[in-house]
Amino acid sequence: MYYENNKRSIAKTVSHRILGTLTTAIIVYLFTGKLLLAISVGGVEIIAKIIVYFFHERAWNKISYGRKRIQPFVLWFTGLSGSGKSTLADRALIYLKKKNLPVQQLDGDILREIFPKTGFSKEDRIAHIKRTGYLASLLEKNNIFVVASFISPYQESRDFVRKMCKHFIEIHVNTSLEICESRDPKSLYKKARAGEITNFTGIDDPYEVPLNPEIVINTNSSTEEESFEQIKKNIDRYLILY
Ligand code: ADX
Repeated sequence: MYYENNKRSIAKTVSHRILGTLTTAIIVYLFTGKLLLAISVGGVEIIAKIIVYFFHERAWNKISYGRKRIQPFVLWFTGLSGSGKSTLADRALIYLKKKNLPVQQLDGDILREIFPKTGFSKEDRIAHIKRTGYLASLLEKNNIFVVASFISPYQESRDFVRKMCKHFIEIHVNTSLEICESRDPKSLYKKARAGEITNFTGIDDPYEVPLNPEIVINTNSSTEEESFEQIKKNIDRYLILY
C-alpha cells in the first residue's frame, strides 16, 4: 500500500527518459553517422517524451481498469488446546507476510500473558474473545490482515466477532480430544485430569463445535503439510474473492 507522490513520478520519468533518449541518439548516429543530428533528435525527444510520460503515468494511476484493491480478512483459528491452531496460524502468518501483505497475529497464550487476570470462566472467555474480536475488526478496518488463534469455545463469542469483522474466516482446527491429550505439550491435560486445573476445555469445560465455519481442518486424517496446503489454497481463494 504505497502512495506515489509527484516527486517520485518525476524521478522515474527522468531516469527512464535519459535511458530512452541515449538509445534513440545512438540509433540515429548508427543509421546516419551524424553526431549533431543524433544529439538534436535526442534533445527534442527528451523534452517531448518527459511531458508525455509524466501525464501518462498520472493518468494510469487514476484508472482502475485491471487493478483490484485487496481486501484484508480475519483468519480465526478455533479448536481445543493442543489442536495445532498456533502452528497453522504461524504458517499462515508467514505465508501472508511473504506476499508483502500487512498482517498482525493475535494469539490466546500471548494475550493472556499480557493480561494475566483473564480467567477461564464462561464470562471471562467470552469477554476475552469479544475484546480480541474488536481489536481484530479495528485492524481489518485499517487494512491489516489478522491471524488469530484462540480456543474460543463459545459459538456466541465467535458469532460476535464474525459480526464485527467485514471478512471473517473461521477455521475449525478439528483435532480430537484424544490426540490433543496425547500431545499435551504443557502437561495441562494431565493437570486437568488430576483436578489441579479446573474449567479446562474438553475435560470439564465445553467446546462448542463451530456451526458454520468457512474451513474445517481435519488434523486426525491429514498431516500438518496437508492441513497447511488446505489453508494456503483458501487464502489464495479469498484474496481473489474479496
Ligand atoms: S479461550 O478459551 O479464552 O479462547 P485462549 O485461547 O485465550 O482460551 O487460551 C488458551 C490457552 O490457555 C491454552 O492453550 C492453554 O495453554 C492455557 N490454559 C490454561 N488454563 C486453561 C483452561 N482451563 N482451559 C483452556 N486453556 C487453558
